[in-house]
Amino acid sequence: MTTQEVTDLLKKAYGDEIETVMNYLTNSIVLEGVSAEEVRESLETDIQEELNHAEMLGQRLKQLDERPPASYDFEARQESLQPPEDSTDVLSVINGVLDAEEDAIETYRKLVSAARDADDPVTEDLAVTVLSDEEAHRTEFRGFKREYDEN
Ligand SMILES: [Fe+2]
Ligand SMILES: [Fe+2]
Repeated sequence: MTTQEVTDLLKKAYGDEIETVMNYLTNSIVLEGVSAEEVRESLETDIQEELNHAEMLGQRLKQLDERPPASYDFEARQESLQPPEDSTDVLSVINGVLDAEEDAIETYRKLVSAARDADDPVTEDLAVTVLSDEEAHRTEFRGFKREYDEN
């Protein structure tokens, strides 16, 4: 049996993934200009991966006899990921993505240790898998930020 902390973190992570999908999708549509092209393409790839994370978390909740949250349970938190006023402001989107990935990394690190404490190796394994994807996303966007800082 797993703990309340584990299922709470799974539900929180599920909501965060859905909010991330919405904001990455909106930013990938809003952004324009030659210099935005690489970031837009990267966001499009990540949208599929974040959606896949949400699905894995939701399936795990189901296995634990719980339900993933729907929109009425949802509280939006990603202020820095709101699309910039200036649709060519790529740096604003890069910084928003880095905030979201840092936040996700923190949540999955908590989930790894909560699942370990609860002796729930299946959730622990899932959290480690998703954590490694989020670290890869962060690395990619740190690279974009470095490019911008040089220009
Ligand atoms: Fe994710
Ligand atoms: Fe991510």
